[in-house]
Amino acid sequence: YNVPAPKNEPVLSYAPGSKERQLLKKALADARAVELDIPMYIGAEEVRSGKKKKLSPPHDHQHVLGYFHEGDKSHVEQAVQAALNARELWVNLGWEHRAAIFLKAADLLAGPYRYKINAATMLGQSKNAFQAEIDSACELIDFLRFNVHFMSQIYHDQPESSPGVWNRIEYRALEGFTFALTPFNFTAIAGNLPTSMAMMGNTVVWKPANTQIYAANVIMQVLKEAGLPDGVINLIYVSGPDAGDVIFSHREFAGLHFTGSTGVFQGMWKTIGQNIQQYRSYPRIVGETGGKDFVMVHKSANAKEVSTALSRGAFEYQGQKCSAASRAYIPSNLWDDVKKYMLEDLKSFKMGGTEDFGNFINAVIDEKAFNSITGYIEKARQNPMNEIIAGGKYDKSKGYFIEPTVIVSKDPSSVTMCEEIFGPVLTIYVYHSENFEQTLELVDSTSPYALTGSIFAKDRYAIELAAKKLTNAAGNFYINDKPTGAVVGQQPFGGARGSGTNDKAGAKVNLLRWVSLRTVKETF
Ligand code: SER
Repeated sequence: YNVPAPKNEPVLSYAPGSKERQLLKKALADARAVELDIPMYIGAEEVRSGKKKKLSPPHDHQHVLGYFHEGDKSHVEQAVQAALNARELWVNLGWEHRAAIFLKAADLLAGPYRYKINAATMLGQSKNAFQAEIDSACELIDFLRFNVHFMSQIYHDQPESSPGVWNRIEYRALEGFTFALTPFNFTAIAGNLPTSMAMMGNTVVWKPANTQIYAANVIMQVLKEAGLPDGVINLIYVSGPDAGDVIFSHREFAGLHFTGSTGVFQGMWKTIGQNIQQYRSYPRIVGETGGKDFVMVHKSANAKEVSTALSRGAFEYQGQKCSAASRAYIPSNLWDDVKKYMLEDLKSFKMGGTEDFGNFINAVIDEKAFNSITGYIEKARQNPMNEIIAGGKYDKSKGYFIEPTVIVSKDPSSVTMCEEIFGPVLTIYVYHSENFEQTLELVDSTSPYALTGSIFAKDRYAIELAAKKLTNAAGNFYINDKPTGAVVGQQPFGGARGSGTNDKAGAKVNLLRWVSLRTVKETF
């Protein structure tokens, strides 16, 4: 069998008066009417540890969504055992049966679960309706459908044979169990990491960020309804150290699929390295980590297009996309216009909770993020080389709200120009229009990351020069567009350097990390 390439799931607009807006409002009201009591899923069991932790929307401390049951090391051990127990049946199930489960899950998300998962993402992670739609509906659906398509291509990719010799490749699952550790910022990524490993025949222990448990729970319900057998994906809510202690010391640990911070990834890699002799096989390690994504502008660019890219690329989802524009280099000839248009845009952005569809800016994810981001703003304020030209105010009394903040820095090596902030803060360096080439050097050398970046120019020579000089500065490189919003099947996503192993999400190269090949030569 072959699974043809799917079409990207169309994005619904949620325009006032539309049917989808009505349905989403109803899902939000339904969510308000129940108190969540979210179990872990281990093997066939829904596990309620009794250690209940409160969930509130980041934009509204007073609103209690409900509770999740926190686990400990014993739950990690049970989850590992459940994954190992489920492995034999799952590995031996024909791939077309695995494919059917994930295709059905995609259809369920596109249909009856669309509004439920969007509501969970809006309330749990403080995404507005549009940001939720492109994430927990469209991107997640696309990940599932495209990965099934890529999986079928992989299994069909076979070597040459000749008369008397038949060569074949078996794409076997990894031997052991795998571990998915997923972030808060994209429900789609949270869904993609465990399912891409499971699709290739692996069984999985999945630990989401605590701030993403609401939507993770909906994903699990969808997978169960689609027919995912018990124990193939085991969802647990435990501390990082509890998970790490059990998983990275287990002989059968076979793979890590991670999206999150650079520090956490490097820490896990070190632990895995220290334990390397304990494992049956070398574990596969795939991670997408930090970013300090750039917008580089040439004097020939269109100022309006640049300003839109900045206001949307930097501030959609409060700058908490791994791809968010976080540093910009604007030529002096365009600066007045870019600034004027950008400030107009920012003035039009309303800030508040997600249930009011007029709000473009919502809250940052939690208190730790709020403190870290506002710390950067205060540090920037104290630096005489900096000027805050927009935002700079914040308030956590009702929710974790931070105004979209723009810093203009005369120092291209200043802290907010170089370090990852992961919040609604954009730092701009205005360079002399004739210093394009030297400024490209700055873009390349002042940050350890290489996730996304944009060049804006009309001049083709400038575009070519930027593409060459910035060859290794971004895994996703945009010409005359904002650096966010990669679409599955169109722009495979991921970066190298400090940004990760660059095993593109939603791509064949990623799925190939989750199989271990056996080459068979048969002679007649
Ligand atoms: N796909 C998202 C984007 O490009 C990031 O995961 O914005």
